[in-house]
Amino acid sequence: MDAVHAAITSEHAEETAMGVTKQYLRYVPSAVFGVIGSPKANAAYVMLRGGERGRYVAVAACEHVFIWDVRRAEKVLILQGTKHEVSYLCPSPDGSHLAVGYEDGAVRIFSLLSGESSVSFSGHKSAVTVISYDALGARLVTGSRDTDVIVWDVVNECGLYRLKGHKDAVTQALFLKDKNLLVTSSKDTFVKWWDLDTQHCFKTMVGHRSEVWGMVLLNNEARLLTGSVDSELRAWDLSYLEQGKELGEPREKRVKSLLEEDGEDAVDTVDEGLEERILRCDKAGSILRESRDRVVSLTTDTKAKVLLCHGGDTMLEVFTVLPPEEVQKRMEKKLKKAKKRAKSQGAGEGVPEPVVERKLGDEILRLANIRASGKIRSVDCVLPPGGEMKVVLLLQNNTLETYTLKTTEKMPEATKTGRLTLSGHRSDVRTMAFSSDNMAVLSASAETVKVWNRSTLQVIRTMACEYALCSIFVPGDRQIIIGTKSGNLQIFDLASGGLLETTHAHDGALWSLALCPDQRGIVTGGADKTIKFWEFELIKDEESGSKKTLTVKHTRTLQLDEDVLCVRYSPDQRLLAVSLLDCTVKVFYTDTLKFFLSLYGHKLPVLCMDISHDSALIATGSADRNVKIWGLDFGDCHRSMFAHDDSVMFLQFVPKTHLFFTAGKDKKIKQWDADKFVHIQTLQGHHREVWCLALSPSGDHMVSSSHDKSMRLWERTREPIILEEEKEMEREAEFEESLAKGEEPVVPGETKGEAAPAGKTTVETVKAAERIMEAVELHREESRNMQEYQAACKAAGKQLPPPKMNPILVAYGNISPSRYVLDVIKKVKSSELELSLLVLPFPYVPDLLALFNTFIQDGLEVELVCRCLFFLLRVHFGQISSNQMLLTVIDNLRTNTISKVQEIKVSEVRGVPPANSPDHDSTGFFPFFPQDVLGFNSAGLQYLQRELEAKEDVMFFADATDRFEEKKRKRKKRERVVLTIA
Ligand SMILES: *[C@@H]1O[C@H](CO)[C@@H](O)[C@H](O)[C@H]1NC(C)=O
Ligand SMILES: *[C@@H]1O[C@H](CO)[C@@H](O)[C@H](O)[C@H]1NC(C)=O
Repeated sequence: MDAVHAAITSEHAEETAMGVTKQYLRYVPSAVFGVIGSPKANAAYVMLRGGERGRYVAVAACEHVFIWDVRRAEKVLILQGTKHEVSYLCPSPDGSHLAVGYEDGAVRIFSLLSGESSVSFSGHKSAVTVISYDALGARLVTGSRDTDVIVWDVVNECGLYRLKGHKDAVTQALFLKDKNLLVTSSKDTFVKWWDLDTQHCFKTMVGHRSEVWGMVLLNNEARLLTGSVDSELRAWDLSYLEQGKELGEPREKRVKSLLEEDGEDAVDTVDEGLEERILRCDKAGSILRESRDRVVSLTTDTKAKVLLCHGGDTMLEVFTVLPPEEVQKRMEKKLKKAKKRAKSQGAGEGVPEPVVERKLGDEILRLANIRASGKIRSVDCVLPPGGEMKVVLLLQNNTLETYTLKTTEKMPEATKTGRLTLSGHRSDVRTMAFSSDNMAVLSASAETVKVWNRSTLQVIRTMACEYALCSIFVPGDRQIIIGTKSGNLQIFDLASGGLLETTHAHDGALWSLALCPDQRGIVTGGADKTIKFWEFELIKDEESGSKKTLTVKHTRTLQLDEDVLCVRYSPDQRLLAVSLLDCTVKVFYTDTLKFFLSLYGHKLPVLCMDISHDSALIATGSADRNVKIWGLDFGDCHRSMFAHDDSVMFLQFVPKTHLFFTAGKDKKIKQWDADKFVHIQTLQGHHREVWCLALSPSGDHMVSSSHDKSMRLWERTREPIILEEEKEMEREAEFEESLAKGEEPVVPGETKGEAAPAGKTTVETVKAAERIMEAVELHREESRNMQEYQAACKAAGKQLPPPKMNPILVAYGNISPSRYVLDVIKKVKSSELELSLLVLPFPYVPDLLALFNTFIQDGLEVELVCRCLFFLLRVHFGQISSNQMLLTVIDNLRTNTISKVQEIKVSEVRGVPPANSPDHDSTGFFPFFPQDVLGFNSAGLQYLQRELEAKEDVMFFADATDRFEEKKRKRKKRERVVLTIA
């Protein structure tokens, strides 16, 4: 590293000596704008600062989450992401948090108060497709495109279990309120029921022939409604069978006795019996949607009174789910009618009483259809008691629409209450430009051209236009001109926001336009194989008489043999470069329009190019992925560089330099040095093809636009870039990426094969493991010193001065070595604890187990210690059980753990911290709201309970007495009661 530095310094010194200091300055991302809502994820109503429900909506905006105040059409909060796009959003039941799933499988939980993320989970290998909270907000379930379902403990910030079984992307996952069950649906056509006590799929519903795209629970979880690829919503009646009640059949008895033995294998063999013991599903009919394509969203309000459904088109269908009393009334009415009819038909004595069959259509009624102004991507609603339902629709085309609907009326009409469209384009922005004062930015798409304030990123003007391909600010910044796909030039006045003129310029797309360096006119090139020259003119406005308006006058035409893709003037105005469909760039003299030279070499057409400020260099970017740098004196190619992994879409020199930027279809923006032919930096951020760039005349700002609908502002900093370091950083980033792709065990006890190699975990967890190892080593050394000291005392027959304490311990306030180990473990991020322990080499484990025993005895951090203990026991089961030396340790642990854990449970259920646990709050519990403490602690308890139970089949505890077994069972029952109350 030093050598590199030295080399660079000397190079710099040389350059400085020659008077040509060249410093590369870093450009950094500054803002994302133009996105209202990305169609990758859903929209969700959230609560914010105690504001009213139905006012704030969370939507994905590429890697960020935007919270919009839909009433005032203002962005009020940004939940910052980093790299990967958001793929799912789910607010917590109390409205204080938002769980966000990402394309790479990560999940982060943000506080809606602070906008910060405090918890992150990583366990999925690809996009998170669904997230749900349980009723208490203590557990989270996530489903992914990787087909896994993972249940997370929000309190302890760790994974609880990974549920494998689906064969395709998971589309919905729902906890049940009163039962420890989970139901999931998938594109694999199945709906699966999971018993979370055993983490077992006990039922697979096979009634669907194709993908199940959505699912809701209705009627107090007594009915399941599923949506698939057709217009039928299928309903299933659910009956939960009480444990022990259905034991009439001898087979069931056998099942029960097998289960009593707690054997995993036994459970497997009686899978079917178990299923019947828990739940029955019976098809209860179906509801027909009007829409014919697949279900995209199927959702209800929180009380499941109203059902909302839409497909990939513009129609939202709203149904009302009648409560049982009303269904009853309805049926009675029907029966009366039927009787009347029977009577009027003069039926005699012998005819049986008429019967009316109760159909699903009597319980779920169509309320209204809402036609949105674009294709719907997602829907959410809030239904205040007795009030109007508020509905928000995220459309496919970067729009949010809100409606209200009076659900109590018979045939309610939906009212459109708002539409968020202003701060973004409906379609991709193909061209951008900077005003000459660096202050305003123009962006134009297929239907609108917008002008933005660069410093506030607020829209100053929005004007309807034709499909725009290229654009400029007219000198003076009062007008703008765009060139369109239909071959027109459109001139807009910024003060009035009006279209001044549409001039037909080319028969075919107007691909490129450039301002004449003398600022008196423009040149345009199009698909009609011509170049046209235009002069600005001010003419009297006929209407107002006095005011003058801008127009363009066609002066000259240059006919060519091929379609023109790009035109650029040399800044000295001597030459005009023209890129043609035949892959060449031809250079003409501007004054005579005589041919000067041709640039041959690109294998595919040049899509973009630019000429340096001194008219010395021309850089060309092509669909062949290369960039070439040419001298404009002789047309010699100085260098060809492979630039992007796909077409180079845009190229521009940084004003007054020989540095230039390129934008690629490969999502990247890169900066290059046209003298030294080096790649300086890569700007990553866009998630799809980058279409265009614009650098501000000062070079301090750059904007870019992409197929991901975002526009990004980049800023030049004063931070110099050292190329070697930049390369090193890029390599490291790539390495991290590859690490992140590795399979990480996230759920306790989950190992891939035998010991999971360290290389698969993140840098963070490896570091945490190293810190634990160091602490254990320090503990060992101190113990050794202490032993030696005691031996020395004995030999000397008197007290000797004690040995010097390790300076680290002194620094921490003379704490004991064992306390130091505990502190180090406490400092490991809760979400990384298991992974860190996993990479800890086994030789450190016996030390830790012995230490854990003393911690538990002393009542120190019992919960945390238990969590570590059980995890280590699971992971190193084989090695521990074969180690005679460890058996006494384990035996002690067993007795101590059981008694301590019970003690803690009692006090926690009561909501008070146990005695002997002064640091209780720092064990990884969130600072939650008082009313939730019981719920969250119950979840923590459940976790311990499950862990304890899991240990049952681990041999250490296998010899536990029968009395303990029985106690545990009783306790389990009692705890269930506590949990349902909570
Ligand atoms: C896009 O949304 C707007 C409303 O925001 C609508 O008028 C337009 O028709 C939509 N376009 C498409 C192609 O869906
Ligand atoms: C942009 O906003 C800033 C701050 O509100 C204001 O001072 C400036 O004049 C605005 N610029 C334009 C071009 O509207």
